[in-house]
Amino acid sequence: MDPKYEPLFLPWKVGNVEIKNRVVMLPMEGTNMIQWEAKTGFVKGIDAFYRDRKDNDIGLFIPGLIPMISILGQKWVYQHPKVFEPVKPVVREIHESGAKIFFQLSAGAGRSMLLPPILRPFIKKGALKTLSSPFIMSRWWWSAPDPEEPNVWDPEVKMDLFTEEMIRKYVYAFGRTAKLCKQAGVDGVEIHAVHEGYLLDQFAMPYTNHRQDAWGGSLENRLRFACEIVKEIKRVCGEDYPVSLRYSVCSMTRGFNQGAVPGETFTEVGRTMEESEKAIRILEDAGYDMFNCDNGTYDAWYWAHPPVYAPLNINLSYVEHIKRFTTKPVVCAGRMQPEAAAASIAAGRIDAMGVGRQLLCDPEFIKKIREGRKEDVRPCIACHGACLPFNGLNGKGTDIDPMHVAMGRCVLNPWTNNETKYSKAPAKHPRRIAVIGGGIGGMETAIQASLRGHKVDLYEKTDRLGGVFCAAAAMSFKEKDKELLEWYRRKLAECGAKVHMNTEVENLKALDADTVVIATGAHAKTLPIPGADKAVTAAAFLNGEAKVGENVAIIGGGLTGCEIAYELALQGKRPFIVEMTPYLVGAKGICMANSTMLRELLRYHGVPAYLNAAVQEITDEGVTISTPEGQKTVPADSVILSVGYAPDTRFAALKGKKNRAKGAKDVYFVGDCDKVGSLKTVIKQAYELVQTLSYE
Ligand SMILES: Cc1cc2nc3c(=O)[nH]c(=O)nc-3n(C[C@H](O)[C@H](O)[C@H](O)COP(=O)(O)O)c2cc1C
Repeated sequence: MDPKYEPLFLPWKVGNVEIKNRVVMLPMEGTNMIQWEAKTGFVKGIDAFYRDRKDNDIGLFIPGLIPMISILGQKWVYQHPKVFEPVKPVVREIHESGAKIFFQLSAGAGRSMLLPPILRPFIKKGALKTLSSPFIMSRWWWSAPDPEEPNVWDPEVKMDLFTEEMIRKYVYAFGRTAKLCKQAGVDGVEIHAVHEGYLLDQFAMPYTNHRQDAWGGSLENRLRFACEIVKEIKRVCGEDYPVSLRYSVCSMTRGFNQGAVPGETFTEVGRTMEESEKAIRILEDAGYDMFNCDNGTYDAWYWAHPPVYAPLNINLSYVEHIKRFTTKPVVCAGRMQPEAAAASIAAGRIDAMGVGRQLLCDPEFIKKIREGRKEDVRPCIACHGACLPFNGLNGKGTDIDPMHVAMGRCVLNPWTNNETKYSKAPAKHPRRIAVIGGGIGGMETAIQASLRGHKVDLYEKTDRLGGVFCAAAAMSFKEKDKELLEWYRRKLAECGAKVHMNTEVENLKALDADTVVIATGAHAKTLPIPGADKAVTAAAFLNGEAKVGENVAIIGGGLTGCEIAYELALQGKRPFIVEMTPYLVGAKGICMANSTMLRELLRYHGVPAYLNAAVQEITDEGVTISTPEGQKTVPADSVILSVGYAPDTRFAALKGKKNRAKGAKDVYFVGDCDKVGSLKTVIKQAYELVQTLSYE
């Protein structure tokens, strides 16, 4: 092992529980063992998820949260001890591997609750009360410390009051549920959460708690709920039963639906560092044994769920600071990198590294680090595309139905949380497969097919593997995307597929293969407007084929257009965006953490955006746009068109046909040449195609 990682592998203690190393798998929904939506309460198949991870050098597992009470049907966990039965063998297996496990118990979301869109028309403006029914949505899930606070996802929805009676019942429930955890062999519990703007955090922060009773006002009063919970657990389970707290050091929040960005000077409406220094002492005195830390609230969600725009180790300096105010161990979360974590642990500035998404992406992350195989780690690119695909349209709701969304999956690793759906066995009837195109879709197909035992030839017409992802990864803040490209190239070289670079395939018949997979990607679209030839495409700009001036118009305020604007702002240029819809980054499937951070960064860098605006002409002076207020010309010395991609149609005539009868080959399409999508769609399609080719 590289000595710089050694501090990660030192043992430590939480209360009396010794943990073998400093790596904590952070709680993530989708990794839950108990979930009321599952028929029996136990998430079937989750044992396979943990089996993949238990022997891979993770010291402490914290599965995704367990709500004290169900969303529908108003069932208290502690009244259903049977749901802990199937948990026991999984806990046993984790123990046998030498790791420890804490269960995260949640007080719920308060105003951060994502309400199902189907109910939203009925529950606007206080109508929640009249609709209160255990069968629609139990009241516990739409009550907040202060009923005047707007719901995060839909500000028109007002919450109901979380009453003192409810608090008392909750405190009792936490004690009972923790007891069940202890009886199931679980080593400790973590309370969710004075963190991220969840219910207990809403009680704790001044801007979401204006109560006049014993649960509002002074800091002690605002923390009383969280303190009563730990006291009750210790009373029921014994002083030595470890209780961790999920804790956001600072809220990083400017107001409702307004977050601060790294480096910004702003007025905090939530928990300031000064208050946090006092709060952590109060919480420690109440009995908490560990603090699992980050920053943020749902109004500044990207601190707790840092997307690609967030610096690596985004929360580390804050967590290091707060450790000075408690004698208990602190864990730091948020794009943590092993180098920074190891150095911080060695210096005594944090106690352990929290890792979330990277362990969805690559279960062997830590093992590979220990074995000196860091370059083998499939890097998490913080896209949230399959682990947390909750949109937020500028605070105007979401297009995801929370009752049906799957969390905790991974764009880059479709196997994760699909362990019982897919197979890794050798192919039943190995084929000779030709893959046309060396973008992500082509490489994923070739790697997966080779691993299943097919004989694969991949043909790439250029001298570069990666396709349009090369452009996507080019921006300065996409270091992990660049690592991913390298990872794909390395895995392709290692997998046994024969790679033919600079080889354009025109005649499929001439290929020595029985199966052809077309993965030729897409090309950038342009606009049918006068002067379009004066513009450069987003891809040309990102690939370094076209230079731009200082005053840059970006046509298209989708994800790529906004990322380019941010990149140009970082370079000190003056970009502006022209977008046809009322939203920046409005596409479905982009996580609210990613879209809000990008919008907040554009705000911080003063990038103007013309919304509801259509470009009519591009001239030497700039762009002429029509807006609801009328037509105007905005000066620009360069124009970048970021209006999407169109599929490559060279082989489209073969689509849908299996021409075996005519003596031809099986032909399949993967990725953008089939239908323009995202990294998520292309990788999933490639992965599933290989499953079909291997096991049907
Ligand atoms: C899919 C998903 C679900 C999450 N669910 C929870 C949760 O149940 N409880 C919690 O405290 N944090 C939750 N988080 C936050 C993570 O614990 C973690 O703090 C965050 O992902 C940042 O760490 P990372 O950059 O290593 O992924 C979740 C994160 C993700 C991606």
